[in-house]
Order: sequence, then structure tokens, then C-alpha cells
Amino acid sequence: MLRRPRRNRQSAAIRQLVQETTLNVQDFIFPLFLTAGSNKKEEIKSMPNIFRFSADLLLEEIAACRDLGLLNFALFPHFQEELKDSIGSLSYQPDNMYLQAIRQIKQHFPEVSIITDVALDPYSSDGHDGIVQDGQILNDETLEVLGKMALAQAQAGATIVAPSDMMDGRVQHIRTVLDEQGFTNVAIMAYTAKYASAFYGPFRDALDSAPRHGDKKTYQMNPANVKEALIEADLDFFEGADFLMVKPALSYLDVIKTLADNYALPIAAYNVSGEYAMVKAAAQKGWLDNDKTMYEILLSIRRAGAKVILSYFAKEFAEGRKMGKF
Ligand code: PBG
Repeated sequence: MLRRPRRNRQSAAIRQLVQETTLNVQDFIFPLFLTAGSNKKEEIKSMPNIFRFSADLLLEEIAACRDLGLLNFALFPHFQEELKDSIGSLSYQPDNMYLQAIRQIKQHFPEVSIITDVALDPYSSDGHDGIVQDGQILNDETLEVLGKMALAQAQAGATIVAPSDMMDGRVQHIRTVLDEQGFTNVAIMAYTAKYASAFYGPFRDALDSAPRHGDKKTYQMNPANVKEALIEADLDFFEGADFLMVKPALSYLDVIKTLADNYALPIAAYNVSGEYAMVKAAAQKGWLDNDKTMYEILLSIRRAGAKVILSYFAKEFAEGRKMGKF
């Protein structure tokens, strides 16, 4: 035998030497949930160890994460039902809780970047990402709201706006609005290939944002398709996106790979709530080893070609890294 691949696996030192993919704390974006009030830290039932924070405690959480080397946060708001309406108008009122919190964060931690979510669902009484009329999701009418929302977020201090709504033409519309108002430096992370997935369940629990009627299949992608992701990626690229995202991550590693092979933009992957919940549930039962499973999953997302990982595991990974675990 001239070829014995085991030679390169014989010790930890050699294994590390030939390791092709690595994980770095700075590759992560940590999603955080914001809720109204003060001194609130509510655990999300289907996401152990993930919380909805009021703004004051959110600042403390961000300080703790920053000390671990995490500098990028995707922030999602949880609004009370009474504040929602059919066009999500709360989303661009400059004094809303979300925009206020962004201002506070940027004041306290100018070095961190805040990635904001651009979509109607946290503000919509219909729980959809776009405006609903007679059971249809209106595309072009929704763009107007998305533009206003993205602008309000940029004005509040967002570093990156991340449209997760899957309306056609939204990247171009948002880019145009931002540029017209002088926010040429605010980047766009497009949810390029966002699939109509069952893995978003726990997130919708976190935000009480499940669609009241129907599903999201007329705008989010069909899990069966990958070529279609190239159409979405082409559009986002030429409409001015700075990052292309695939979401969820694990059932879509081939999509991550396809985009990474075909586009020079940094590819982000969203390791979503349901993917987190599965590991946590199995680990709580003693059926899976939490740390090893987490590490393997995160590694697989990077190996597939993601430069950036949005993950609820980000803080846990950063803590483990600090303790020399990973
Ligand atoms: C909605 C949005 C969703 C997620 C991020 N933004 C849910 C959805 O599309 O219904 C899901 C994130 C997760 O599951 O972790 N605009």
C-alpha cells in the first residue's frame, strides 16, 4: 500500500496540521431577540438557553458576547400583538422599541455591527413577511414598506440590513432608497435562498410571528429546488447585495456549496432555530453530545462554503473556544 490515508490522522498534531476547514469566532453572527420593558430575560421554550431580552439586559448580553470576541449581531424584535397592523407601519416609526435599542447599542458599543431584519412579520397582524390582500401577498406594495423600514434602521445605526422577506426586487429597491438618503455605506445581506421550511418553528414562537393564515410558500423557495437559488443569487448580486445568504443551513448544504462555487460575494448561512432546537432536545435527553454535535454541524456549514454563520450556537461556541474546548 503506497497510500495510507491514516498516516495523516495519527495524532492530534497531525490532524490539526492537515485540517482543511476551521471555525473562527469572528465568522459568527449571533441572533438576539429583543422584547419591550426592562429587566426582562425570558427563555424561549423551544430554544433552551436563548432568551428574549429587554433593551437594558440586551446591552449586558452584548457586552458579554463582545468580551468573547463576538462583534456581529442579528437583532429581531418581539412586539405585542396590539401594536401590529396589516401594513406593518410600526416598522418605520423612528421611536419604536427596535430602532431605539439599535441606537442604544451603537452608542454603547460603536465597534459592534448590528444586522437588522427587513420583513413585515414581526409587525404584521397577518404574520406574513409582506402585505396581505384577499389572501395574496402583494409584492410591489410591500417593497415600499421594506424601503421605509430599511431606511429607518439605517438611520438608527444598522451596519447591515438583511431583507428576509423574499419579495422580488427588494434588494434593488432598498439599495436605491438607502443611496438616495446618503446611506451608501450600509450593507445589504440578502436572504438569497430562503426556503419555506419547517425549521423556523421555534423562531416564530420567539416572536409570536407565525402566519395567521396560510403558509409562506408563495414567496419562500421550494425545498426541492437548487437551480432557482442561482436565479435568486443573480438577482441579488446585480441588485447590489453585499452578502448572499442561504437559509436554513443543514438541509441546504448543497445550496451553500452551489452559491459559494458560483459567486465571489461572501456567502452566509443561517443555522436556524429548528436546527438549534433539535440538537438541544436530543442533548437534554442524553441522546447526543451537545458540544461535539454543535462543532460538527458548524464545521459542516463552513466546509460547504459559508464564510459567515448565523447561529444560536455562536455564544456557546465562543465560550468553548475561550475555555480551549474547540
Ligand atoms: C422572518 C424570519 C424568519 C426567520 C428569520 N427571519 C422566519 C420566517 O421566515 O418565518 C427564521 C430564523 C430562524 O428560524 O432561526 N422574516
